This record gives sequence, structure tokens and C-alpha cells, in this order.
Amino acid sequence: MITAETIEKIKETARIEEVVGDFVHLKKRGSSLIGNCPFHGEKTPSFHVSVNKGIYKCFGCGVAGDSVRFVMDHEKYTYPEALKYLATKYNIEVEETVESKEQIELNSARESLYIVSQFAANYFEEQLWNSDDGKAIGLSYFKERGFREDIIKKFNLGYSPDVWDALTLEAVKNQHAEEYLEKTGLSIRNDKGKLYDRFRGRVMFPIHNFTGRVIGFGGRTLKTDKNVPKYVNSPESDIYHKSNVLYGLYHAKKAIRDQDNCYLVEGYADVLAVHQAYIENVVASSGTSLTIEQIKLISRFTQNVTILYDGDAAGIKASLRGLDMILEEGLNVKVVSFPDGDDPDSYMHKVGAGAFKTYIEEQRKDFILYKANILLAEAGKDPIKRAGIIRDIVESIAKIPDNIKASVFVRECSHLLEIEERVLLTELNAIKLAKSKKAVTSSAPKSSGYGHPDMPPDDLFAEEGAVAAPTQSTTEQISSDLLQEHEIVRLLLTFGHELATWEQTDNMYVGSFIIQNLSDVTFDNEMCNRVIDYYRTELENGQLPTINQFLRSEDEEIANLAITLTTSPYNLSENWLNKHQIYVKDESQNIKAAVLGGLYHLKKRKVDKMLTDLMNQIKEEKDVTNQDILMGRYAQVKNVERTISKFLGSVIVK
Ligand code: UTP
Ligand code: MN
Repeated sequence: MITAETIEKIKETARIEEVVGDFVHLKKRGSSLIGNCPFHGEKTPSFHVSVNKGIYKCFGCGVAGDSVRFVMDHEKYTYPEALKYLATKYNIEVEETVESKEQIELNSARESLYIVSQFAANYFEEQLWNSDDGKAIGLSYFKERGFREDIIKKFNLGYSPDVWDALTLEAVKNQHAEEYLEKTGLSIRNDKGKLYDRFRGRVMFPIHNFTGRVIGFGGRTLKTDKNVPKYVNSPESDIYHKSNVLYGLYHAKKAIRDQDNCYLVEGYADVLAVHQAYIENVVASSGTSLTIEQIKLISRFTQNVTILYDGDAAGIKASLRGLDMILEEGLNVKVVSFPDGDDPDSYMHKVGAGAFKTYIEEQRKDFILYKANILLAEAGKDPIKRAGIIRDIVESIAKIPDNIKASVFVRECSHLLEIEERVLLTELNAIKLAKSKKAVTSSAPKSSGYGHPDMPPDDLFAEEGAVAAPTQSTTEQISSDLLQEHEIVRLLLTFGHELATWEQTDNMYVGSFIIQNLSDVTFDNEMCNRVIDYYRTELENGQLPTINQFLRSEDEEIANLAITLTTSPYNLSENWLNKHQIYVKDESQNIKAAVLGGLYHLKKRKVDKMLTDLMNQIKEEKDVTNQDILMGRYAQVKNVERTISKFLGSVIVK
């Protein structure tokens, strides 16, 4: 492991303009440098490099980060590889913590697994092209199915001889230890202690990890016998973790990035067929149902996934729910389905490469609308079924982390389902609030009691049952809660290190002030929460975080959020001050106004939600005594609300 000191030194020394400048032609414009973005095709430059902040951001495709991130993304390096690259560039000596004996052994064992896997891949490939059986059985099978030679070669397809222990013998002859043959699952030991081949008489699909090393195999039978499994696959091993692997990613990753989209199919054969149609941004989950890790892997390259489905309706319906998981990761999901009975592979061979490409481009539909259509067709006119569908679809929409995106779907689904937007929004907010309530009750920090004296008491917000009943203004609620939360994070990052000079702050830092006053608030947006939590922990450890810690966070999502909030030409019309027509000349002159305004505004929203909720409870409560108690509480909260409103209306801006 590279030591923390070295990492620090590398990050301090690397100059963003030099690191990027090695790959991108940069020109000076104003205080930043700009050039054509290397991550997406463009003719007018929208790739900005800020020398002062040490970061880059593309306003075209949204990529952003520091020097290390740039090298990782541009050169497809891992984190340590990128650090080493920069260390070499700047002549920095890399100190690594000494690895333990166990660690070294583990690493060399893993290396041996890679080596024997590569050996097997070469062996199978050699058999396919050069042995009599390989040519007559394996190669002719691929050709009969219509696969071109260049595709067969590109994916290093092979053939395993129909012999008990052909590979095992060859490997042992070439000094490969039995231990590693067994651990990769290439060989299996029988009861008598003798090793034999797992793959026999099958066409072979080597599986590469995303850096291109062979980590496992799928072997397809050539028999039509139903008693023989169609595919035999390598077992899990120290180098092959199925849930983290996507078949074809190594060959697809560049195209995925260039096209900013990833096609997802089910089988090995589908990956080959789609490639053969000159569409290279395609991967398969291969046998396992899609996992979170696989989705995260895709999201390193693009935020857009297009699923190519087999045409069978039952199968489609079964997998719909699984796709919500992709939405939850914040990816955009589109779907193409094929005529009944066809999968991408059979369809491509049926219609040919050109027509296939046109088909998937024309047929792709947005997942949520696609789902809505399928469920609607199924429900027909039955009103009860239709009501069930609404819930189902809104649940999918609630998975989308980006509220603005979600509200676009609400609009589209309202047309499709012929339901008023307001009704869908009510449903959506109810689901979201239920989720955030869960989050609040499980992780609410204890109230600290040292908030700003003008502020409503902390524990008011920690009270249970603080879930708003849906109100009419839900449209607004959806989008502006996020804006509000972003605004606070932005203030925290931008002004956190300034001194808060106004009354009752005892010259504390603005960052501490904001954090103290948030002790009772859980943000709906999980990213914002992460930033706040991190900030709070640092403060508790006696450190005042700097903006750079966020801009250069190893957590890519945090870095992206920080960059977006602090560098984009932030649109004042979106923020609190402007919304209330309060004229601010220069925000930093008016930190107090911005900070108190942001905090109070958020708190007011919470109080408003509580008031609505209390009012509903009062209406429903039959017991007069309980009603009195609730009314008392309502009056209390209303008082707080008045204080806040008054404050918002007058005090802040001079
Ligand atoms: P398919 O049956 O769709 O396979 O299973 P395919 O790749 O399209 O193969 P062809 O067209 O019949 O040659 C999809 C994937 O499920 C896994 C494999 O990864 C396969 O590619 N699978 C399927 C298995 O692991 N074992 C099996 O027995 C069947
Ligand atoms: Mn198939």
C-alpha cells in the first residue's frame, strides 16, 4: 500500500494543468483553462481546468475531478496505478507500507491463478484453430451460427477437447501447479485423487476482468441433449467473483465511454452478435441476475444503460423489478425488446447487422414508460388493477435519486396513465417521506442543544411523527427540497472556513455554525447527508475541513457534487436569496444573510411539514383530550413557525 504521506505529496505536487495538458490542448480563458473534453466527442470546448482549485470539469458531459481522477479515467488506471503514474511524472519517491508475509503470499497465489487461466485460454484457442476436432467441431459450430472469424478471434474463443484430462496434462507438463488448476476450477479432483478437466468437448468463452486478464470460463455444450447443462462455468475463485464481473466489459469499455451508453444483454452469444453488428458497447451479466456491483461497474463508464431483452413476455415482467435497482444507482435506463422468441443474437442473425442497429436505435424506450405500458396492457380496464399499477410505477420513480429527473417522469406517466400529475406527486412524496422517515428514526443525531438562540429548539425536529401529509404544493416540494439542501452544502463548502462574525456566534467558523444548526435535520438527499456527516466527524475530531478535501475526495460522487456546487456558474435565481427578491451584490459580503437564510428556509420547510401533519392528526382525532394535546402542540409549533417567518421576512438583509 502506498503510504498516506506519499499520497499527500503526490496530490500536492501534481499540477492539474500539466497533468491534463499532457493529453488535452488547453487554452487560457479568463481565470481558467479550457479545451476539448477527452471524455466525450465535441467540437467546441467545454472542458474547464481550474488551476487554483486543482480540478477539471466538463460542462458538456459532466465529468469532473482532480489530477488523480483524471489519470484514472483517462488512462483507465486503478487508484494506486494513477498515483504511481503521477509519482513518476513528478519524480516523487513512492513509499509503500511493507507487505506482510501473508500479503505477499496471497498476491503471488493470485498471480498464479491469473497465469494458469491465461495458459488455459491459450490452450483452448489453439485447439479451436489448429486441432482437427477443434476445427471440425468447435470452429464449424461458431461458423454455422454465423459468427465471423474476426469476432471469434477478438473474444479469444476456444475449444476444449472431448478428452478426460487434456488440459490438465498439458498444464502440468508446462510446470503449472495442480493447486492452481484446482483453485481456478479448471481441473477437478476425483474420489481417487486424480485430476480431470472441468471443460470437455465444449466451445469456450474466456471471461476477462476489465483490465483484460482472463479470470474464468464459460463452456457451451455442442450437444442438444437436455440432460447435459448448456453451459458449464468456472466456479468462484480468488480472482473470479461473479457478482463483480460483466462479460465483455474489457472489449466494451472504450466504446461505452465514447457512446456514453452501455447495452446490457443476457448471454455470451448475445455479446458476440451485437459486436458483430458493429456495436461494441455491450456487456452481459452472464447467468447471474444483475447485481449492484455490476451496476456500479457500469456507472464508472456511463450513466446510461440500455437493456436488450429476449422477447418473452413472462421473462420481461419478472425482470422489471430487478431494474429498479439500476434506477436507484442513479442511472438512466432504457429498454429494447425483441419479437417473441428472439434474443439479440438470433434477431441479429435473422435481420443482419444493419437492420439490427436500426432496430435497437428506433425501438429503445425509457424504462419507466416501457414498464407502465406493459403493466397497463396487462391490467386492461380493470380499475383495481390500474390503481395497483400506479403504485408500482411511482415506486420505481421514487427510486430515482435525482428529484428533477423524477418529476419529469411524473409528468410523462401522468399523460400515459391519464392521471393528474398532482395525484402521482402525492403518491411519490408519500413514498419518499416514508423512506426518509425510516432514515431519520434510524440515524437521527441526538439534539445538541447549542443551536443558534434565535433558532427553534432542536428537539422540535427530532420529534417522532414529523412526516408531512402530502399537501397540494408537492410539485414544489420535490424540486426545491433538493435545491435547498444543495444550497446549504454549497454554503458549507464555500464559506465553511470563514469566521462567523455576527451576534451570538462567538467568532466561530461558519462551518461549525452551520453544522451545529443542522444537528436536528436529516437531508432527503443522501449525497448531501454524506457531506454533512463527513464535515461533522472532522469537526468532532478537531479539524476544520477544507474545500479541497471535498473537491479531491476519493469518493467520486462527493467530489462531483462538491465541484458542481462550487464551480458551476451557480445560478442565483435558484437560491434562496434571489427567490425572495433580496438583492445581494456580492455574496461573500453577506455570508450571514446567505447562511442564516439557507438554514432558516430549510427549517421552515420542516416546520411547515409538521404543521400540516399535526393539522391532519387533529382532524382525525376523535378523543377530545387528545385533540387538546395536539392543538397545544400545534400552537407551539406555529409560534416557532412565526419566529422563523418573521426572521426570514425582515432580519437578514440590510
Ligand atoms: P442463454 O441460454 O440465453 O445462453 O443463457 P446464450 O448465451 O444465448 O447461448 P446460446 O445462444 O444458446 O448459445 C444466458 C446466459 O446464462 C448463462 C450463460 O452465461 C448464458 O450466456 N447460462 C445459461 C449458464 O450459465 N448456464 C446454463 O446452463 C445456461
Ligand atoms: Mn442465445
